Amino acid sequence: MKSTFAGLELGTGEFAAQVRSSLERVEDLLISELSSGDDILVEAATHLAKAGGKRFRPMFAILASHFGDRPGCDEVITSATVLEMTHLATLYHDDVMDDAPLRRGALSANARWSNSIAILAGDFLFARASHLVSTLGPEAVRIIADTFAELVTGQMRETVGVSAGGDPIDHYLKVVWEKTGSLIATAGRFGAYTAGADEHTVETLARLGDVVGTAFQVSDDIIDITSVTGESGKTPGTDLREGVHTLPVLLALRGDGEDAARLASLLLDPDTGAALELTDDDAVAEALELLVASDGMAQARRRLDEMAAEAAGLLDTLPAGDAREAFASLVRYTVDRVG
Ligand code: IPE
Ligand code: IPE
Ligand code: MG
Ligand code: MG
Repeated sequence: MKSTFAGLELGTGEFAAQVRSSLERVEDLLISELSSGDDILVEAATHLAKAGGKRFRPMFAILASHFGDRPGCDEVITSATVLEMTHLATLYHDDVMDDAPLRRGALSANARWSNSIAILAGDFLFARASHLVSTLGPEAVRIIADTFAELVTGQMRETVGVSAGGDPIDHYLKVVWEKTGSLIATAGRFGAYTAGADEHTVETLARLGDVVGTAFQVSDDIIDITSVTGESGKTPGTDLREGVHTLPVLLALRGDGEDAARLASLLLDPDTGAALELTDDDAVAEALELLVASDGMAQARRRLDEMAAEAAGLLDTLPAGDAREAFASLVRYTVDRVG
């Protein structure tokens, strides 16, 4: 069993042993749930779960459960597994939409097989997640259904783009909250709720998930620009190739000077000002280089620091102890992973 999950190096103490044991149970449940279909589904359905991944959402739920009376109980493990399955399902579909060739250091399902197989495998994961969450009762089913609707709304909002006259940065922040923050908020909510935490604690952990989840997506968007191929297990520049303008890009395009003008000429349609899908490798490389050096990138990093400070403020309202320390490390990891 590996020792680093969600960027946290688990130590050797009692708390770390409990968290590790919970994560191992999630792992076992995840693989057994995904292996339970017809033979023709199993290889595609287990492909990404077996390829790797940080298990950030299960870790978030398990840590949240330590603020309740029953950390790591069966319901916590079930809810953490449902979260990873839901996340995985969205990755299958996201890679089809983004035409992404790599995921978790392996070929994406669309690249390995086809778009149809990736879509169906994602659907199967949703079906298994729905089955599993039903064992937690109607309230849990409602929460996951609402979260899933938020997530899809975010992917739809990103696909449709900002409305005429709308503020692109407000649009971006709404998208990242919906597509990523909402599920991590539910991880905080589920972990605390299934462990029997009081209502105030449940709400605080859901709010922590909102903030950390949004920061997590902002850091993912920065890494899409700054990382070298292979490092993140994904292909850098995927957002630009798809014409998706993330926070550093939007802020850099607001700058003045020659570099901002050059960036605009690469990324925007000169007639309509709409985002272009970059198909030329040299254009992608040049745009990435301009972005890395841009003031927009520096501003995006500052926004990330502000989100981390907000998360730290929320953590201060929770009881001190191992779980709070671990969450503080998770917040640091979310910011520091951008390098
Ligand atoms: C990728 O999520 C999609 C985003 C929301 C940024 P992760 O970065 O958690 O991906 P895995 O689970 O480790 O592969
Ligand atoms: C991922 O969005 C969010 C969801 C899967 C809901 P992205 O397209 O930005 O994530 P990566 O970079 O491919 O992981
Ligand atoms: Mg993607
Ligand atoms: Mg996407």
